[in-house]
Parts: sequence; structure tokens; C-alpha cells
Amino acid sequence: MIIDIISFYDEHPINEGSVLAGLQREGKDLAKLEPADLYPHDQDHYGHLEAVRTIAARLELEPGQRLLDVCAGLGGPSRLLADEFGVQVQGLDLNAGRVAGAEKLTDLVGLGGLCSFREGDATNMPFAAESFDAALSQEAFIHIADKQALFAELRRVLKPGGRLCFSDWVAGSGLSPDDRQRLQSDIFAQAIHEPEEYRGLIAAAGFHAVAAEDLTAWWHDLLIERLEMFRGMESDTVASFGRQRHETYITAYEFFVGRIIDGRLGGARFLATG
Ligand SMILES: C[S@@+](CC[C@H](N)C(=O)[O-])C[C@H]1O[C@@H](n2cnc3c(N)ncnc32)[C@H](O)[C@@H]1O
Repeated sequence: MIIDIISFYDEHPINEGSVLAGLQREGKDLAKLEPADLYPHDQDHYGHLEAVRTIAARLELEPGQRLLDVCAGLGGPSRLLADEFGVQVQGLDLNAGRVAGAEKLTDLVGLGGLCSFREGDATNMPFAAESFDAALSQEAFIHIADKQALFAELRRVLKPGGRLCFSDWVAGSGLSPDDRQRLQSDIFAQAIHEPEEYRGLIAAAGFHAVAAEDLTAWWHDLLIERLEMFRGMESDTVASFGRQRHETYITAYEFFVGRIIDGRLGGARFLATG
């Protein structure tokens, strides 16, 4: 049984080993990888490259800017943004194994000069004030209950006028206390906010021009596909963590996707200026 958020990601179907296994199945030479070779395997969010590029457009990234990727995981979005936009990316993640995986995958594609990764909690960041021009995150703030601390930290580490853009789950009408309880225990969804409530939490930290885009219709189809992707990763997940972990993960994901289908959950992309 998975008892905390660190263990949950230590036994996640998308991990350093699954990325390397995917590359090997494609017959890639690990000594000659390009950043784009990783993209089919290393993006742990919804909407794949289109989602990352849309965030880049919202942030109006310029080469040489310092970008913070909050809850960066294996660093898939960080590498894409460094490679395509020439930004210096600092990734932050709570999970030491994911930070190590992000560093290894980044070295494999020769982006170590543009991307670095650090272990740490997004509610207590190991960075000086006004360190970054912009910040992003994807499908991770759902794990963080203390949004007041999270947005206060983001405001602190962004330069004045710096942009924040992130996507996350939002509560739809009819999300019940039982739904919340199950999503919390199975996927560590600690706090699911309605869009207006989420905007208020961002604004309360001192961000302005807080805007929200509804992603629910887009997520509907792509999450059904993503559930199929995780089902198709059965042999890798079983080999790494055992059959019970695969089945537990799929059951939890089916429940999550079911709530997207019935409208009790949705997705949104938020943009705000510090
Ligand atoms: C769904 S993954 C997203 C990874 C990455 N953003 C991507 O799109 O590929 C969520 C990540 O959030 C991290 N995380 C959860 N709570 C965190 C916290 N309080 N501080 C930093 N990272 C956290 C997890 O360890 C996990 O790697």
C-alpha cells in the first residue's frame, strides 16, 4: 500500500527506467540521443508537447530568461523549454529519485548547461527572492494542500512582473466528499479547488491579472487515451513494482478519469503576474 506522496512517485509507471526501456525498444542508441527522442516517454502531464508549448506562449518566454519548473518530475517539460526556447530552467521536485532521474535524462541529451534540478518542497523553496523571470507547473499543485504557502513562495522567488502559468485539476459541480476522499487516498490529490476559488488563492498571494482557461473538454479525450497508455505499460510497471502496484494504479486512474467523464472533475490553466 502506498502511504505517502514520495512513495507514490517512487512507484509511478512513468519513471527513469520506463523512459530508458522505451528508448531501447525503439532501438535508440543511448549515447546519441536528441532531446526530442525523450518526448514520447518523459512527459508526466496531460496534453503532451502542445500543453508545454502553450504554457511557453502564455509566459512569453525569451532566450536567456531564468525559468522555474515547479514539481518538475523527470524534467520532460524543462528540457523541451530549454531546447526550444533557450531558457535556463531550474527544476524543483520533492522526490529525490525523480530529481536524480531528471539529471540523468538531461545529461543523456546534453542539456546540462541549460537545465538543473533540485530536491525541495514547493511550499518552502530553496531559492533566493526574485530569482526567476517566470514559473510553470503541470498537474502537480493538486498534491499540495497549503496553497497559501505555495503561492507565497512563488511570489517571493519570481521577479516583480514575472509570470506564473500552471495547469491543474479543478473541481466540477457534483464532486462529492467521498470522491475527494478517494482521490486523496488513491492519488494524493490533497486539495481540489473550484476555478474561482483557485483564482482567489492565487490573487490572495499578491499576484494580479489572474486568468483561468477551461481545459476540461480537451482533457476528456486525452485522459481516456492516457488511461489506455498506462494500461499498455503493464509489463514495465509489473516488472518494476509488481502486479499489485499496476492494478492499484489502474484502478485509481479509472476512478479519476471516470470523474472527468462525468464532469465532477475538470482541468484549467491559470496565468498570473507577480
Ligand atoms: C504529475 S508529476 C508532474 C511532473 C512534471 N511536471 C511533468 O509534467 O512531467 C507531479 C510531481 O510533483 C511532485 N511534487 C508533489 N508535491 C510536491 C511538493 N510539495 N514540492 C515539490 N514537488 C512536489 C511529485 O514528486 C511529482 O514529481
